[in-house]
Amino acid sequence: MLYPGDCLKLLAAIPDESLSLVITSPPYNIGKEYEKKLKLETYIEQQAAVIRECVRCLSPQGSICWQVGNYVDGGGIIPLDTVLYPIFTEAGLKMRNRIIWHFEHGLHCSRRFSGRYETVIWFTKTDKYTFSLDPVRVPQKYPGKKYFKTYSHLNGLEFLMVHEPALWTEIQDVIAAVDAEVCKTSLRSICEASCLLCR
Ligand SMILES: C[S@@+](CC[C@H](N)C(=O)[O-])C[C@H]1O[C@@H](n2cnc3c(N)ncnc32)[C@H](O)[C@@H]1O
Repeated sequence: MLYPGDCLKLLAAIPDESLSLVITSPPYNIGKEYEKKLKLETYIEQQAAVIRECVRCLSPQGSICWQVGNYVDGGGIIPLDTVLYPIFTEAGLKMRNRIIWHFEHGLHCSRRFSGRYETVIWFTKTDKYTFSLDPVRVPQKYPGKKYFKTYSHLNGLEFLMVHEPALWTEIQDVIAAVDAEVCKTSLRSICEASCLLCR
């Protein structure tokens, strides 16, 4: 059902702890056609009023997902999720994920990298929240890889030695064939730039 009106009026009519899920993409205060750009403090106060009402209506097993982007002020960016985060935690909610939505379209910035992402911050009211991972699970990137934690103290090259010994032997042959010191240094820098363990 669609309610074409002010969300605060709708929320006022909703009983306490009766909603399982709240998902919203509220105004970002960037002067879109549907909004008047406000002082950041005024925007935050408005959002806080809506968030508190949503928290009141949320069931103990429920979740709130708040999707926002960046507010731009004189060229400086303010990630709105970071300024809204305390409103949720002060209301007693716990954050479960900060999901990054990355996209390829949008304005082209010339004095900074273009902001091609927004965030969805997901909060729950209690620890007994509903979450069904199986229907949305994605396949493991390295199926069958186990005991990652056992090797977490290793750096990238050591990880390679343990997990890809055949590749490591090949690499050693290459190292032996060229200037060993140069090769080791460049290999290490490649590994440190791309390897999860080195980062
Ligand atoms: C960032 S846009 C989200 C658009 C929506 N996700 C979509 O895909 O169409 C914010 C929306 O919030 C609506 N809005 C702003 N203030 C509102 C209020 N007090 N109550 C209800 N909706 C409001 C605006 O009209 C706008 O459509």
